[in-house]
Amino acid sequence: MLRIGRLTLSDRASAGIYEDLSGPEIERIIRELLPGGCDFSSRILPDDPEKISAALIEFCDREGCPLVITTGGTGPSARDQTPEATRAVIEKELPGFGEAMRLRSFEKVPTAILSRATAGVRGKSLIINLPGNPRAIGECLPMLIPAILECLRHIRPADSPDT
Ligand code: MTE
Repeated sequence: MLRIGRLTLSDRASAGIYEDLSGPEIERIIRELLPGGCDFSSRILPDDPEKISAALIEFCDREGCPLVITTGGTGPSARDQTPEATRAVIEKELPGFGEAMRLRSFEKVPTAILSRATAGVRGKSLIINLPGNPRAIGECLPMLIPAILECLRHIRPADSPDT
């Protein structure tokens, strides 16, 4: 059973001003596409980079999630700091995830290049940023599944006791 951390970053969703639709959308897509079942640990936080980094560390180091997916806070506005908070905790950046999302989505929505989403590895965990729009999650997440599974095979080889 794959344990997955999902983290929604939004000042307004975390304050209850609107419902978090993006986090549940991640869960729905992953459950549909990932073989073998998964177990989600979820959180909603405001766009505060220190809180975001702390939550990412907790998902990776304390909860031992092989995969952590964030949504929101990847854009150009002053409060959008998810990529910075992610870079602060990863050891290896995997820029291809963000590049692929922007490239593929740009063909459908010209505004897709406003997302600065990135990804990277912390220890035995893969962290991926997704844009905050629930529709964007449907446009981006499915195509990332093969690379996610392959990355997990690289960072959690079969001989590792807790794979
Ligand atoms: N990507 C896809 N596939 N579809 C979208 O509608 N919206 C874009 C972009 N990426 C979008 C997308 C917009 S308008 C913004 S501002 C950025 O994602 C950042 O969104 P975020 O700050 O909610 O992460």
